[in-house]
Order: sequence, then structure tokens, then C-alpha cells
Amino acid sequence: MSYPFQIRSLEEYSSAYRRSIDDPEEFWTEIASFFLWKSPPQKVLNWNFKDPMVNWFDGGVLNITENCIDRHLADKADQPAIIWEPNDPTEKSRTITYQELHEEVCTMATVFRNHGIKKGDRVCIYMGMVPELAFAVLACARIGAIHSVIFGGFSAQSIADRIQDAGATAVITCDGAYRGAKDIPLKSLVDEAVEDCKTIKKVFTLIRTKVPVSMIKNRDYFLEQEMLEVKRSGTINYEAEPMQAEDPLFILYTSGSTGKPKGVVHSCAGYMIYTTYTFVNVFQYLPGDIHFCTADIGWVTGHSYIVYAPLCAGATSLMFEGIPTWPDAGRFWDIVDKYQVNILYTAPTAIRSLMQLGLGPLENKDLSSLKVLGTVGEPINEEAWHWYDKNIGKEKCPIVDTWWQTETGGILISNLAGITPSKPSYATLPMPGVQPVLVDDQGKLIEENNVNGNLCIRFPWPSILRTTYGDHERCRLNYFSAYPDLYFTGDGAFRDENGFYRITGRVDDVLNISGHRIGTAEVENAINMHAGVVESAVVGYPHDIKGQGIYAFVVYNEEHSINEDATKANIAATVAKVIGPIAKPDKIQLVNGLPKTRSGKIMRRILRKIAEGELHHIGDTTTLLDPGIVEEIKKNKI
Ligand code: WTA
Repeated sequence: MSYPFQIRSLEEYSSAYRRSIDDPEEFWTEIASFFLWKSPPQKVLNWNFKDPMVNWFDGGVLNITENCIDRHLADKADQPAIIWEPNDPTEKSRTITYQELHEEVCTMATVFRNHGIKKGDRVCIYMGMVPELAFAVLACARIGAIHSVIFGGFSAQSIADRIQDAGATAVITCDGAYRGAKDIPLKSLVDEAVEDCKTIKKVFTLIRTKVPVSMIKNRDYFLEQEMLEVKRSGTINYEAEPMQAEDPLFILYTSGSTGKPKGVVHSCAGYMIYTTYTFVNVFQYLPGDIHFCTADIGWVTGHSYIVYAPLCAGATSLMFEGIPTWPDAGRFWDIVDKYQVNILYTAPTAIRSLMQLGLGPLENKDLSSLKVLGTVGEPINEEAWHWYDKNIGKEKCPIVDTWWQTETGGILISNLAGITPSKPSYATLPMPGVQPVLVDDQGKLIEENNVNGNLCIRFPWPSILRTTYGDHERCRLNYFSAYPDLYFTGDGAFRDENGFYRITGRVDDVLNISGHRIGTAEVENAINMHAGVVESAVVGYPHDIKGQGIYAFVVYNEEHSINEDATKANIAATVAKVIGPIAKPDKIQLVNGLPKTRSGKIMRRILRKIAEGELHHIGDTTTLLDPGIVEEIKKNKI
């Protein structure tokens, strides 16, 4: 049985798309009617992109967790909501039914309530990929607390920055997290972070790796113990906080072209409706299917397509704690085989790294349950697309190339599996409700096809970001000021003769490393914190596995230099300390100076060419203060 708003043919897609453009309010009202409201919305849409101000489903009152959980208790109480596969395949897996999810989430929500956490409070979540991470997200939503999940690869400094920016009052963490052969000491990083965070009143720790943790009286609590007490005393509070449609649901920090990550804010109703709508339509999810999204819940993909949308749709969502290559490169395929996964949603970087390891890990793995494959996070090159299609999908599974962003909440451009056509390396067509346009650098609308341009969206969809936390002007400047009355994505795109979009990558100073966004300015700031560094410039370069690698040109003060290798290792360690291991440069070149214009501006274009290996196409260097520096950098390129 399909969903009432499921598009089942190309004609239905065309008609849904047309309706969504002709009368967006009527279109989304109908879809909204399939969700559970405490009171229904009165006004569907109020908006302008100048302030910007976007309000969807005003007057509506709901709690997203009643849509994710309670609604399914009537007919799906015993169906698995979450299947959890541990990092170590010899450890027991876990299955959490909708009934159990209800119990766990309400218990955790009661713990938080009892500790004084209330609607509107900000709560940081820094955990590994364990089921309790999903429970924690939902428990916050249950009581109306705004969660800010921080990926486990970020440093104590990054945690502190995010806690301070959001003014968070509580942290939920684990003693440690397993990722492949590694064991990450999450709690001790949290301890280090909260030393500088006066707003934090409570820290809840879930035991996972059994590494010793420090516990401070009246601040630190063991989460299971707290939950056990609530269960034992029979005081679970099942109430779901009534939330206005536009109340914030969560903050998720993401990198932009400036030094500091921004807290993207999503609101309750629009986010819920749009992510669920796209989940059902893009993946063509049918009740009973097992959906396996390999992302981490620390990124938006995990928020939207592991937790919220699958659960709203009453799906079974598979959550994996580990990494694709440990204990061996057959890990994903073992999981697909073991649980008879129907939908696999992963990142091009994972596909490329598995592709490199050959077909051995696929031997004797039954992948016949797969129906749909998906990719997200970066452009997928044709070679990886064909490998995925041939060896994983056996040329029988449509591949959906889903383009979207933290700021968009859900998928904006993608084919619908088996319904609309696919084309390797193309995200293809917009979802209903999404109106993409291309503009040139002057902001002029490009009407024709077979052109490149800057990708913008000219009408709000329900899950567009509402603001950047604590700084609305920054939101306006970043997304709504480059081109008047348009949301600017920061991506470039090519539109072919059929109107299909191919995303060509970022046109700003944001790198995409293994599908993770990192701002060059952010990495430069971290490098410049190293005692011996005078200045630095960071650019991206093509990397076989990661898509892009980080290349840092660093001017180093000789007096501090002992030996070059040690210096580079120390610079990398500094970046890991300041941002986190995910931002470590792949290449560091020590240089005597950077190419600058006479007005002192670093010519990144030249450095980018050098990093890309285009040594003979550097372009004009005559306007540089010291053209000689370019020759020297070229000569010593890594
Ligand atoms: C890139 C991830 C090409 C793009 C959901 C975007 C893609 C950034 C694709 C957002 C795709 C994401 N094809 N590029 N299918 N999907 N991107 O915020 O540059 O982590 O702007 O959200 O990833 O990354 P974010």
C-alpha cells in the first residue's frame, strides 16, 4: 500500500509539480492534512526573501514526535522502528519497535523534564551512533527543547563554540564512541569543552565503551540510571509538548565562507512535512521496506533520513554504528544481506573508497533485496555511478542522486526512484514545490538550457531554514543578499536540454571533503593559531576518494622551525585540536610568501590552480606584488 501523497508515475509527478507551482498553498495544505495536528494550521504561507521571513502552516499546533511515534502505535506497535547494527559485528544487534521507542523516548523526555529542561532550551547532543542518540533527539523534540547535534569528529573547541553560540544548558553524551578500530573519548572532550561554558547546568552520559569518565556532583548524571529510576517509580510522563508550527525544532551548525560555523535553524511543521514527503517520494518507500541510510546523525542527512522522515512515515530505519571498511570492506554488504535491506542511501565518497578495494568484499553477499540506491553529499562521478549501478544494484535498482543542503532540510533536486528518469551525475529534476533557477554572476536570470549558472531557488519550500541562530542578519547576508529575492545555494549547476540539473560544486569558499562541508576560512583560522604560523591560505584539490582534499599553503616563521615534517605534523595536530580531525589538511606546503595583489589580497585562484596541478595555466600574474613567489610555490608543489 502506498502513501496518499505518493507519486506513482511520471504523469503524476508532472501534475503534482504543476499543482505545486500553480497553487503552492493548496498543494501543501492537502499534504499537511495527512499528519497529526493538535490543532490544524490556519494560514498556509507568509513569506518574503528580503528579511527573510518564511512562515508555513501558521496557527498549527503539533508535536513532531507524535507523528514519528504515537501515531503508529495503533497499527505498527510491534514493527521495528529502528534496527541497530553495532560497530563490531560480533556484538548483538538491537531492534526497537515503535512501542519500545515510545517508552524509551518518553522515559528520556521525563528525565530531561525532571532536570528542569523545558521548551525552548537548547540542548547539545554529542554521541556516537547508538539508538539512544535517536532517542535523545526525539526526547528533546518531545519536550520542545531545541537540539543541536554535534558530529563526533569535532573537537572540544568546536563543541564549546557551538554550546556558547546556542547558549545551551545541557549536554547529552556517551562515555565514548566506537568507529571502526577507533575508540573516541566523547565525555572527556565534553568535559574539556564545558570548562568554558558557563551556561551548561547538566551533562548526561550514556555508557557505551566503558572507558572511565569523570563525574562532577550536581552536574553529571548517568543517563541509564536516571531512566531506570523513572521507569522503576512508574512516573513516565507521556505528554508531548504542544508546539507552534514555526517553533524551532533544532539547530545544526554548518560551515560557510566565513570563519565561524553558523547555526541553521529548522522549525517543526514545515520540516516534518517536507522531509516526510520527499522520503516517501524520492526513495519510493513502501510500508515494510528496510531503509538503510549510512550517514551519521551528526549531519543533516541523518537528522532527516534516519530519524525524522522515516519515523514519520512509519518506516523501519536501519542505523549503523560503524564505518564501511571495518573490520573489512564487506561491512555494508554484510548488513544489506543480514537485514535484507531494500533501500541503501550513501555518499559518493563511500562508494569510491569501496570501489577501490575491488569486488572481493562482494563475494557471497546476497544483495537481491535491494530495490533503490541513493547518493548524497557531493557530485557523484560517472565511474562511481556505474560501479554502484552494476555491482550493487545489479542494474535493476534505480539510483537517486539527491541534491540538498543543511539549510534546505530535505531533498530539493532528485529523480524519484523508478518514476522519473535518471541520468548519471545529474540530480535531474526539482521536487514538487521547488523552483530552481540559474543566474549569472550579475544576477541575471538565465532562461535557456545547456548552460552553467549559480543555482538559486525563487520560492520557499516548507523546510527552508528560518534563520541562523542568534544572528538573523547573517542568514540574510549569506543566503538572501547575493541575488535579490532569491535563495542562493552557494552551488553552481549545469542545466541540460531537458531541464535536468547537474550540480557542479560550490562556487564559494566552502570545501566538500568526503561529503562534509568545511570552510577554507575556518581551516585557515585554525592553522593560524599555531604558534609558528605567520599566515596561510587553504584551497581544495581533486581527491580520488574524498572528492576534494584540503591543500594548505603556510608561511612559517623560521625561528620556530625544527624540522619540516615535525612542523607539518604539528600544524595538522593544531587543526585537529581546534576544529576536529575531519578538517586536517591532506597536504601542507611551507612557503616563503603567498601570491598577493598590490592591495594585499591573497590570489586564491592561483593557489587553486597550483593545488589542482594546472601549473601551466595559472593565468595572469603580472598584477601580483611579487610574481616570483608563484614560481617558487610551483617548484615545491606537493
Ligand atoms: C553538496 C548535505 C552534488 C552541495 C545534504 C551542497 C551535492 C552541499 C549533492 C550541502 C548532490 C549535496 N550532488 N552535490 N547530490 N548533495 N551536495 O549541508 O555542494 O552537508 O551545497 O548537506 O553538498 O552539504 P550539507
